[in-house]
Amino acid sequence: MSAPTAVRPVAAGPGFGRAFTAHTVSMTWTRETGWTPPVTEPYGPLLIDPAMVGLHYGQVVFEGLKAYRRPDGTVAVFRPGDNARRFAASARRLAMPELPVERFLAAVDQYLRADGDAVPAEPGQSLYLRPIMFATDADLALKPAENYRFILLGFATETFFDPSLPAVSVWAGDRYVRAAPGGTGEAKCAGNYAGALIAQVEAAEHGCQQVLWLDSKERRWVEEMGGMNVFFGYGGSGDFTLVTPPLTGTLLPGLTRASVLTLAADLGYRVEERPLSIEDLRADCESGAITEGFACGTAAVIVPIGTVKRPGGSWVVGTGSSGPVTTALRERLTAVQYGRHPDVHGWMRPV
Ligand code: COI
Repeated sequence: MSAPTAVRPVAAGPGFGRAFTAHTVSMTWTRETGWTPPVTEPYGPLLIDPAMVGLHYGQVVFEGLKAYRRPDGTVAVFRPGDNARRFAASARRLAMPELPVERFLAAVDQYLRADGDAVPAEPGQSLYLRPIMFATDADLALKPAENYRFILLGFATETFFDPSLPAVSVWAGDRYVRAAPGGTGEAKCAGNYAGALIAQVEAAEHGCQQVLWLDSKERRWVEEMGGMNVFFGYGGSGDFTLVTPPLTGTLLPGLTRASVLTLAADLGYRVEERPLSIEDLRADCESGAITEGFACGTAAVIVPIGTVKRPGGSWVVGTGSSGPVTTALRERLTAVQYGRHPDVHGWMRPV
């Protein structure tokens, strides 16, 4: 018999969201007992009740974070405490119990004790951790559930987008909206992703890889890309300003977004969190004032945006492929994550 391996085999390459590791870490919550201690279990199907509230009414929140193999062979996780805080905030918004930060971190450590050998050493690869929490009550009265399950699973990954593409193209349609003021836009809840899929299909029909979401009231203000935040850069070397939409409550407060704001300032670029209209985005790309654009997220890392398409027109961002600042930011971020650059902001949690 061959030695057990932490990674279940997949057809070809790790891709994204397929190469699951051998274990999960699980906890449950009930109103009477609170959270149970985390249990490591073999990865496998769940037995769920057909009336489970998470399935019917969508009380489901999740996170995404990555563990990296460093040059000395050790493993470190990028900003897990911040993921833990956002997980708690998402849970609060969906009237779910908050998982205390230290319990979230303990689950991450426990999972990596079991499957840490699955953190790839290949350049550009990492282990993506996906904690999820869902309501398990079998009770279809519409009210916050009384029982929840937390499961942490993970998979080896390389890139979210096809690496042969020089940049992604984005579709800014008027038909659908992702989030409205007072809604769940800033929570990382499953429903936000489900509601966005139809626009993703529309984007693909227009030859685009992603949706560039506009605000719900005026269909005018650039917000985010569903699974990623966006940045656009003005100017050239020596005088460069990076602009990203502000966190108004309708977009996800991305941790890669926050890291890019910090690293851009470290690298000497001006950064502005300010509203950017789709008309200005178009005019500034066409005039050459905007020289670069990129999307960023845990799964996507930092990917250049090459083209924006809209009903009635399309335009190129910068040269249509990665600009020098996009490349520099990606290089600095990944150097910190893979341990090739000092972690001056204390973002990496060694395991
Ligand atoms: C992530 O970047 O971690 C996400 O959850 C986004 C999704 C596109 C997978």
